[in-house]
Amino acid sequence: MQPDYSHALFEAIQDSAVLLDKSGRILDWNAGAVSLFGYHKKEVLGKSINLIYQQNHPFQKMIHEQKKWQAETRYIRKNGIKGFCRTTLSLLPTQLPNKAAALILQQNITVHKILEIELQEKNTKLTQTLERYHEQFYFTNALLIKNIHLKELTEKNLRESELRFRLLAENATDIISRHSPDGTYLYVSPACKTLLGYDPDDLLKYNTYKFIHYEDVGKLKKAFNRRKENSNHHIITYRIRRKEGDYRWFESNIRYIYDEETRLIREVQSASRDITDRILDKKARLRGQQLAHVSRLSSMEEMASGMAHEISQPLAAIVNYTQGCVRYLQNNQHDPAQLIEIMKKAVGQAERAGEVIHRLKNFFCKGKLFKTPCKINRVIRETVSLIRYDLNSSKTKIDFTLEKEVQIISADKIQLQQVLLNLIQNAIEAMRDTTQYLRRIHIQTKRIDENTIEIMFSDSGPGFTKEMAQKVFTPFVTTKAHGRGMGLAICRSIIEAHGGQFFINPNTQGQSWIKFIIPVN
Ligand SMILES: Nc1ncnc2c1ncn2[C@@H]1O[C@H](COP(=O)(O)OP(=O)(O)OP(=O)(O)O)[C@@H](O)[C@H]1O
Ligand SMILES: [Mg+2]
Repeated sequence: MQPDYSHALFEAIQDSAVLLDKSGRILDWNAGAVSLFGYHKKEVLGKSINLIYQQNHPFQKMIHEQKKWQAETRYIRKNGIKGFCRTTLSLLPTQLPNKAAALILQQNITVHKILEIELQEKNTKLTQTLERYHEQFYFTNALLIKNIHLKELTEKNLRESELRFRLLAENATDIISRHSPDGTYLYVSPACKTLLGYDPDDLLKYNTYKFIHYEDVGKLKKAFNRRKENSNHHIITYRIRRKEGDYRWFESNIRYIYDEETRLIREVQSASRDITDRILDKKARLRGQQLAHVSRLSSMEEMASGMAHEISQPLAAIVNYTQGCVRYLQNNQHDPAQLIEIMKKAVGQAERAGEVIHRLKNFFCKGKLFKTPCKINRVIRETVSLIRYDLNSSKTKIDFTLEKEVQIISADKIQLQQVLLNLIQNAIEAMRDTTQYLRRIHIQTKRIDENTIEIMFSDSGPGFTKEMAQKVFTPFVTTKAHGRGMGLAICRSIIEAHGGQFFINPNTQGQSWIKFIIPVN
């Protein structure tokens, strides 16, 4: 008898192998089947193979119809544990003696299947997450598109409003400007050329305060730095420097643009116009009233009086020099060199008197100045040397606090000397009743900003009373027996003609001074 190789193979294969009869009942069961399903051969022989499956498969029908079949099926081990196997049903030739009609091979694929299921679950979750992300993405995208559209619309509106703003601003006769809250110019309309002499580019990126009169800067800063949204606009009057250096009075209607979130000022917009004529008219009317009591005097007389005042100083000096010469000659001390020196000084003073008349006449008739670059500290020292004789004879000492960095100014030197002479003369006269060794005049120069300097006078006399301080610039106001009351009126005219201004501090706290500021150009 030939050895049964097929049975040996049946037992040797590691997968589960089961022989079935034509009705699907178990005929044989190899070791692989024992290990996979947990049943011993004797427990299953003669039983339906569906014993190990979770559902009934139509094996009888398949064998009858000679159908090969392969499927991944679920099985239950004897101990109740479930798993997966790949089942292959192969049909055997019908003439086999042991009635075996079919062979079933079962390959354990539980691990593989579990992994597959887990993978599938993960995959499903991933797909769901992805779908969610997709949804979110589409939603965000739609929102973004909507926002972009809105932004484009806002930008379009902004461009249109900017265009409208520019059209209005560029054609306005007022200066339209935009500033950041710290005062920096962001935009200036072309009217600044006509009204101030600057091109818009001269102002852009600079701080507005740079151009404002130092006495008005505080007012403007206060208006710009409003903390609370308590008002939408504000009207402010101030002096601003033109490119030529003189100051003009301006009125600005200031509007505040607030930040929607912080409610702090984001931008300051301003419409400004020159109101100098209006202000000067008002001042002139006031002066007209002040001068009412001297209206009987003609302007020619005023001028003559002013000139007489200014030439009286050089004439007095000439008298002193010539009297000195006469004394030398009478005493037979005629050292020719010394006499020539004194006479030269007298001639110098006579020329000066002539120049004063010429300049004053020009100034009063045409209001014209003969401006040259002047170093104010030097002009002060020269003026003091002109009046040295009066200082010595009145035993008056002068102290200086002259700022080294003070700028060179463009001014009419002779006119400026007139101002300084008048102020020193007044101080000498004010200290007539002061103890001799206490007679002191203090002159101080100071740089206020890059365009303005200040010259201050104080003395150890009684100072200006509050009442006098208000009227000393009015012509013919004097407290002196032989005074004309013209000195300070002339001083003010000269300084104002230079674009400057006078100030007096009355002697209320023992600190009386008189000072003037003057622009560099
Ligand atoms: N340094 C001073 N201290 C106190 N008072 C002064 C001083 N300077 C001027 N004043 C007052 O101001 C008045 C006006 O001065 P101003 O120079 O205009 O005229 P004046 O000195 O009186 O006459 P003049 O025309 O001869 O100069 C003086 O009369 C005096 O009362
Ligand atoms: Mg005087």
